[in-house]
Amino acid sequence: MKVLVTGGCGYIGSHTVVELLNDKQEVVIVDNLVNSKKEVLEKIKEITGKEVKFYEEDLCNLQELKHIFEKEKFDSIIHFAGLKAVGESVSKPLMYYQNNLISTLNLLECMQEFAVKKIVFSSSATVYGNPKTLPIKEDFPLSTTNPYGTTKLMIENILTDVYKANLDYDITVLRYFNPIGAHKSGLIGEDPNGIPNNLMPYIVKVATNKLPVLNIYGNDYNTVDGTGVRDYIHVLDLAHGHLLALKNKKTGLKIYNLGTGRGTSVLELVNKFQEVNHIKVNYQITKRRDGDIDACYANCDKAKEELGFTTKYTLEDMCKDSYNYVKKNTIQ
Ligand code: NAD
Ligand code: UD1
Repeated sequence: MKVLVTGGCGYIGSHTVVELLNDKQEVVIVDNLVNSKKEVLEKIKEITGKEVKFYEEDLCNLQELKHIFEKEKFDSIIHFAGLKAVGESVSKPLMYYQNNLISTLNLLECMQEFAVKKIVFSSSATVYGNPKTLPIKEDFPLSTTNPYGTTKLMIENILTDVYKANLDYDITVLRYFNPIGAHKSGLIGEDPNGIPNNLMPYIVKVATNKLPVLNIYGNDYNTVDGTGVRDYIHVLDLAHGHLLALKNKKTGLKIYNLGTGRGTSVLELVNKFQEVNHIKVNYQITKRRDGDIDACYANCDKAKEELGFTTKYTLEDMCKDSYNYVKKNTIQ
């Protein structure tokens, strides 16, 4: 199958490209490198022994995108490309609406013009807002609290309307919980520039002495130890979920949670990280971060039943692999 992977140089995209290549799929990446580096392509080659065709292009450029579709004749699309920083989306909403929505509309227009009927879309657990009960199932009410989340929900709605008008389309929406970890080789992973917003990248920066102390945002939540609980999933398990979605025989519009179904608190994650990596992570308890919720974890039964999705990596793997990647790629 010839697959267009948008945003394939990014964190989740690059791991999924490796998974696809190992499964002998033909992959073409389109990425404008706004949040990634071209060197990722070399690393993917080092891991898989395979060259990936790459277009450095902005999906918002419809004419160029049409040229690529015309030339490549894709069978399917996995759409990762998008901006994803929640805080930035609050201060620059137009940038988020423009980038995430226009890129997706352009893709959908190309799909229509070039008769590509299959797409897998990266959505997020953020579309569940503050859930009333746990674990979260796909049919829970949806709401968002920031422009980033709203772009995800708007795209889900657009895909639903497009499906209603084209019942022969095959659309899969994957709602990711909290991806962490990295490829076992340490060649690809996540290492954001500047001060990270998300927990694992921050822990790793403290562990590698790039930042002095981890702020734990609140210990008065209604959870096991008062710190926030989330469903952390290894990026390799997540990548495998995309391959399953791509090969799934069930057609139509399908929505799946991809998580592990287990909640882990901030303190549990920090302790596990220290234990498996034999390193101290300085932390202090500070006040809650605006907009955070007590707990969020998935019910993944639907993905298990319909995709055969299960996770094989543990929290230990996630902690080891995140640290291994950053250690290998940090000049001390
Ligand atoms: P990432 O930033 O590492 O990767 C996104 C890639 O898309 C980057 O390589 C970027 O350069 C590219 N891109 C952005 N806008 C583009 C455009 N207009 N044209 C071409 N390329 C463009 O992010 P990620 O963590 O790999 O996330 C992938 C997708 O999954 C995103 O849509 C994100 O919103 C979604 N998601 C991520 C998480 C998470 O915690 N990482 C959670 C839920 C959902
Ligand atoms: C993030 C995204 C959300 C996305 C979700 C799943 C943000 C603000 N939100 O939320 O849109 O749907 O991932 O991908 O980026 N924490 C600390 N100290 C830190 C950082 C985090 O204590 O320095 C705590 C948080 O309070 C939370 C937990 O760690 O309890 C996880 O935080 P984070 O990694 O930012 O993920 P989410 O809040 O789930």
